[in-house]
Formats: sequence, structure tokens, C-alpha cells
Amino acid sequence: MSEYLMEDAREAGRLAEKVDAPGWVRAHLSHVMSPRAAVLDVGAGPGHLADAVLCRWPQAHVVALDGSAERLAAGASRPGDSGPRRCCAHACHLPFVSGTFDVVYARLLLQYVAQRGAAVREMARVTRPGGAVVLFDLDGQLMWHDPLPAELGSLLARIRPALSAAGFDPNTGRSLYRLAREAGLRGITVRVEPYHLIAGRADAAERARWELKLDIARPFLHRALGSQAAADRAASLFLDFLDDENTLTYCVAFTVTGLCP
Ligand SMILES: C[S@@+](CC[C@H](N)C(=O)[O-])C[C@H]1O[C@@H](n2cnc3c(N)ncnc32)[C@H](O)[C@@H]1O
Repeated sequence: MSEYLMEDAREAGRLAEKVDAPGWVRAHLSHVMSPRAAVLDVGAGPGHLADAVLCRWPQAHVVALDGSAERLAAGASRPGDSGPRRCCAHACHLPFVSGTFDVVYARLLLQYVAQRGAAVREMARVTRPGGAVVLFDLDGQLMWHDPLPAELGSLLARIRPALSAAGFDPNTGRSLYRLAREAGLRGITVRVEPYHLIAGRADAAERARWELKLDIARPFLHRALGSQAAADRAASLFLDFLDDENTLTYCVAFTVTGLCP
């Protein structure tokens, strides 16, 4: 049921590896959590953040929801898994009665969801009055680079309309405040922090993460650019860019938190 453009058997591992889940949970959820809170992670991937919530608040009731049953299952494969409950569903049709959860969050989900307003309204619907909705997403992803080599620039310019056609918005971060207001949330706070910031040659771990991401994105790049050769060229130019001491690339991450009336 997933229309996710990074669909690949390696994606669950990539997602879990690229974030410090306990650190993210501490920084972005501590202020809204209580020990026995009912929590919903929307677009949870393999559930690495939901795992970290349970680790920090073992008495919480946590549901990890994703559109991909395979990715959810990949996170549940540990022997004797007593992690979060896993639920496969679309973010715009959450299978819960209104007011079920104390805290509902989505990290790096909404950029992929064409109907992102409907998804945020669903998140607000399943949150109880006084409960919190936390939205975290990027702004300027794959947009802000210096000095951008001309050939890479023109390939990126050809990729952006295809991303858009696939429902992906690289500037989702700046829309979260509006989406939260339109969903009726109150007491909204906004935080912005750098993300994907690389100044100078990327270190080996960062480069390996991009290499895998570009590899997983290769079928999409092929469709967007019209040939495997062009897809390979775009990936190779981007890796060259990451290997350059002159490189500066970044985007920012918005965190928008609001309360349900
Ligand atoms: C970039 S990953 C983020 C995973 C995790 N939240 C994190 O921050 O690491 C996006 C996830 O959203 C899921 N997803 C995309 N569109 C969805 C939709 N409409 N409904 C539910 N899940 C969706 C994908 O399957 C994928 O696992």
C-alpha cells in the first residue's frame, strides 16, 4: 500500500542507522511526554523511534504505524520482541477512534505525503483534548548547495519536478506551522535546526549514508531523468560534490508542536 519513493528492502536498516533515536526522542518529545502516555508514531518506519520512546518511558503505550508492513516487520524481528504495537495503515486514514492518544508525532513523514494537510488533521483527530501533536520535517532538502557544479545543478533541476509529481515536497518544514493551525492545534511552538549540514569533505560514515540513499533512490532517479546512465551520473556527481573540500550543503529541520483544543 506504500507509495514511498524510497521503497527498498534496505530502507528499514538505513532509517534506523541514520538517527540517534534516543537523542531525538529526548530533544523533541520530553516536554510533552508523561510516563504512562498513549503514544502514536506516524510513519514510524521499522519503529526505531517508538522503541526509544518505550525504552525511556517503559510504562507508555506505544503504537508504531507505517504504510509499509515489510518495514514494520523488519523492526519487529528481534527475538522476544516486546516493543511497540505495530500497525500498517495510511497516514490519512488512522484506524483509531478520536482522542485515543496523548502524544502523536511524525518525523520525516509529511514530506512524502501528497495529502499532508489531511494527514495532520488525522493526527489531531486521534489526539485527546490537551494532548500534543509533534511534527518534524525538513526544509530545503537537496536545494541549498555551494558551490554547486553546473552539471549537477541542471540534473537536480530536472529531478525536482519529478519529486513534486510523486507528492514529495522538499520545503515541507516551512508549511508545518500552517498545517498545524489548519488542523486546529493551539499553543503552537516552532523550532528550527540545521540538518544534513556538511562543510568540507564529508566523513566516511556520512558519505556511506549518502551512497546508500542514492542507491536506494536510483529507480526513482532513473524514472525522473529518463535513463539509467543519467541516474548513475547524477549519483556520481553528488558523491563527487561530497568529496570536495569546498563543499557546503545543508537544509534545516522544523519541529512544530501544538496542543489539541
Ligand atoms: C523517511 S521515513 C521516516 C521514518 C521515521 N519516522 C524516521 O524518522 O526515521 C518515512 C516513512 O514514512 C512511511 N510513509 C510514507 N508515506 C506514508 C503514508 N502515506 N502513510 C503511512 N506511512 C507512510 C514510509 O513507509 C517510511 O517508512
